[in-house]
Amino acid sequence: MNAYTPYDAKVDRADALSRDSVLLTLSFKDPGVAGSFSFIPGQFVELSLLGYGEIPVGLASSPRDAGRIQVSVRSVGNVSNAVHRLEAGDEVGVRGPFGNGFKRERLAGKDLLIVSGGCGIPPMRSLILDILGDRQGYGDVTLLYGSRTQQDLLFREEYASWGKGMRVLLTVDSGDAPDPGLGMGCDVGVVTNLLDKVDVKPQTVAVMCGPPVMYKFVIQKLLQKGMRPEDILVSLERRMKCGLGKCQHCTRGSKYVCLDGPVFTYKQMTDEYGGL
Ligand SMILES: Cc1cc2nc3c(=O)[nH]c(=O)nc-3n(C[C@H](O)[C@H](O)[C@H](O)COP(=O)(O)OP(=O)(O)OC[C@H]3O[C@@H](n4cnc5c(N)ncnc54)[C@H](O)[C@@H]3O)c2cc1C
Ligand code: FES
Repeated sequence: MNAYTPYDAKVDRADALSRDSVLLTLSFKDPGVAGSFSFIPGQFVELSLLGYGEIPVGLASSPRDAGRIQVSVRSVGNVSNAVHRLEAGDEVGVRGPFGNGFKRERLAGKDLLIVSGGCGIPPMRSLILDILGDRQGYGDVTLLYGSRTQQDLLFREEYASWGKGMRVLLTVDSGDAPDPGLGMGCDVGVVTNLLDKVDVKPQTVAVMCGPPVMYKFVIQKLLQKGMRPEDILVSLERRMKCGLGKCQHCTRGSKYVCLDGPVFTYKQMTDEYGGL
């Protein structure tokens, strides 16, 4: 099949996650595709809408879910606004999965520090669900997740269940008493402050996805805590078109974020690309 031809998919559900994010549950129309589509957390797909265009979005569901995928889309522009108008039964196109993702062999057996900000949480949710499906395969797991307000925290109804298998720490830039709907406490302050509550050990690997401004401060603090640059994994967002290493939209030095990334170690970033 031509790599530019999307798979036909149907919207099974469109659930609002916050004032500007929607979670789409999609199933592939071709049973052959539904049976064979597989991915690892951190990979992304190109989601297309006829008449609007195509956007890269991270896979948000568990890779263990057979026959369906979920993506969370924040409305920021032309295509993503159209995605927000989708309803159950509507049709979309899906190309992928693309990118390297968070490779299991890099994370298995390690203590994991998952750091996420704002709408960077969808691929982290995929990783969390995968870890919880094989909990004994990992050491201590901690999620640090920050957002602007408590209303912007995505997947809030899942934190209580995530908390049964891992430590979950939340923070918001501004807010009052924790919303009872969260089922847990929530600090006020930047996500970096949450790092004061966690220990970093030699076997800790940090994985993060969020706004670029978050990376700078979180990485600085992780290095101060003694983490090695090769144990810090970041997922980068760049403008993308093809997802296939052909169009050059996402180049970073000699690398393509769509093919060689979007997950890079901080060591790669500093040694090969001169920083974030
Ligand atoms: C690997 C990858 C994974 C992503 N995962 C998700 C996800 O899970 N959920 C989600 O909501 N979004 C995700 N994005 C961002 C998403 O692709 C953009 O928000 C989308 O392309 C915007 O398209 P648009 O037509 O709606 O907006 P446009 O009208 O094209 O642009 C609106 C605004 O968004 C900015 N923008 C456009 N494209 C990008 C981009 N690729 N990265 C950053 N800013 C951009 C523009 O500068 C502009 O300010 C991801 C991007 C990448 C590269
Ligand atoms: S998106 Fe086209 S080369 Fe990466």
